Amino acid sequence: MNSTEIRRQWENAAPGWARWESTVAAWMQPATDTMFSLAGVSPGARVLDIACGAGSQTLVAARSVGADGHVVASDIAHSMVQHVRENARAAGLANVTTLVGAAEDLAVDPNSFDAVICRLGLMLFAAPANALTAAHRALRPGGRLAAVVFTTPDANPFMARPLQVLLRHSGKTPPAPGRPGIFSLGAPGRLAALLTEAGFADVHERTVSLHLRLPAAADALTMIQQAFGLYRAIIEDSPEPVRDAAWAEVGSTLASFESPSGFVAPAEVIVVAGTRPA
Ligand SMILES: C[S@@+](CC[C@H](N)C(=O)[O-])C[C@H]1O[C@@H](n2cnc3c(N)ncnc32)[C@H](O)[C@@H]1O
Repeated sequence: MNSTEIRRQWENAAPGWARWESTVAAWMQPATDTMFSLAGVSPGARVLDIACGAGSQTLVAARSVGADGHVVASDIAHSMVQHVRENARAAGLANVTTLVGAAEDLAVDPNSFDAVICRLGLMLFAAPANALTAAHRALRPGGRLAAVVFTTPDANPFMARPLQVLLRHSGKTPPAPGRPGIFSLGAPGRLAALLTEAGFADVHERTVSLHLRLPAAADALTMIQQAFGLYRAIIEDSPEPVRDAAWAEVGSTLASFESPSGFVAPAEVIVVAGTRPA
């Protein structure tokens, strides 16, 4: 999948992503806190948020850096960035600016950021190594990057099982190693190695366990259908009966996460961090 296809996929998913972003924000909060702390998002900092989506973490970063700091939110999809602008304006945050473009081709001044953050983005990029090189260039010496990616299919059954179902019904195969995919950077050490190759020092990974909580499995199904660009793209070109059968089976699969307290699914992410050497 190239950058043009990825952009189209996420332009289409942007309205749904924006609708579900508060759920994603609550789900990811422990990982987001860790990412901010490892990247050094603190009062007065200049922060670059890569693959910002609808910007829930952008706005938290903007509040953390305060009026003396600044956040540049960047995403490949114009519609995502539009949501960030509207949300920042509605929140009265004047310290957020936006940038549309692939992370691999970041058009920002070199040495101009104290921190780079990227939540749930890198594994979806056509060329994550190039994005890390661009982020390294954007940081001042001593500046830090922290990023969040999903770990493995076993540790993320809510993400993995629907993916298998959609791939089987559509007759497609999982992405080949090295291609964009939900779990493409989730093996222990994989993303850390990419950071080291891009020139980062003091590279380390922290695993964070999470739970996605929703009222019912039907909500999880709607969330995947509306917001998850990659999942939507797998099945969108299949005939309607195939799509219907695939989504019905995804719904049954998700029902296994229902309990008397609602839908509760375990998940696991890695927060990886590194420093641009001084
Ligand atoms: C799963 S969403 C995560 C959004 C946000 N970071 C969050 O955690 O809520 C992935 C985002 O990556 C963006 N994206 C995908 N490929 C990209 C690329 N090559 N460069 C920049 N953004 C990209 C998509 O448009 C989408 O907004």
